[in-house]
Amino acid sequence: MEKEVKKISIAVIKRLPKYHRYLGELLQKDVEKISSRKLSEMMGLTASQIRQDLNNFGGFGQQGYGYNVKDLYREISKILGLHNKYNFVIIGAGNLGQAIANYHGFSEKGFHLKGIFDVNPKIIGMKIHEVQVMDIDKLEEFIYTENIDIAVICVPKENAQEVADRLNKTNIKGIWNFAPVDLKVRKDIVLEQVHLSDSLLTLSYKINEKLLKERQEKIKQRRDMPRYPLKNIKT
Ligand code: NAI
Repeated sequence: MEKEVKKISIAVIKRLPKYHRYLGELLQKDVEKISSRKLSEMMGLTASQIRQDLNNFGGFGQQGYGYNVKDLYREISKILGLHNKYNFVIIGAGNLGQAIANYHGFSEKGFHLKGIFDVNPKIIGMKIHEVQVMDIDKLEEFIYTENIDIAVICVPKENAQEVADRLNKTNIKGIWNFAPVDLKVRKDIVLEQVHLSDSLLTLSYKINEKLLKERQEKIKQRRDMPRYPLKNIKT
């Protein structure tokens, strides 16, 4: 009988890829076990946070032993659904679409690029990373015949919803959208929006906050500096 799927909070789910990455690195270094303290130092989280998070998946840690890296990595991979293999297509073979197509890291994680689509006749027929760019008109048929699970949207924002509308009429399981627009998709399609500029603006906020703090610190230091009475200074 299948194990019941346990509900995990979104905050924990968002940390799972980070656990997966760090545990993967430990596995590559043949590390067999790790304490929550060591893992917390590596990951910049508190040890109690790590214990709480990992307790969600059935308490892998043993008192005085730590966590078995391989078991934990396997379990987190399973929760992330990485035991599945996914076929994906990229829609929009411009700067970003080509960069994603050329990145090797996705196939190592089980995401296989099967097709790239565009409207531009100058790009259609081109090969990127051994995959041919096809006419967008072939999209729907390709999704059915090649069992495509995920569509990656890399078209300008003005064209993103029309692409999503086409995808809405297929049996696609998920959309990874890079266009800076909030798409409307069918309820049973999982949508993950990646707004890179939002992340850049967060970076800007953090840099600005740091600069403000440094400036305030300097003003405070200047204010706290001892002042000597002018009469002691010979002219
Ligand atoms: P781009 O202009 O280089 O490429 C867009 C491609 O989409 C073109 O080849 C175009 O022919 C194709 N296209 C347009 N309408 C289409 C349709 N209906 N069906 C299929 N293909 C279509 O644009 P770029 O720079 O690659 O950006 C793509 C998207 O990603 C944009 O929405 C952009 O805002 C977003 N983005 C890009 C970043 C980047 O670093 N390039 C960073 C953050 C977001």
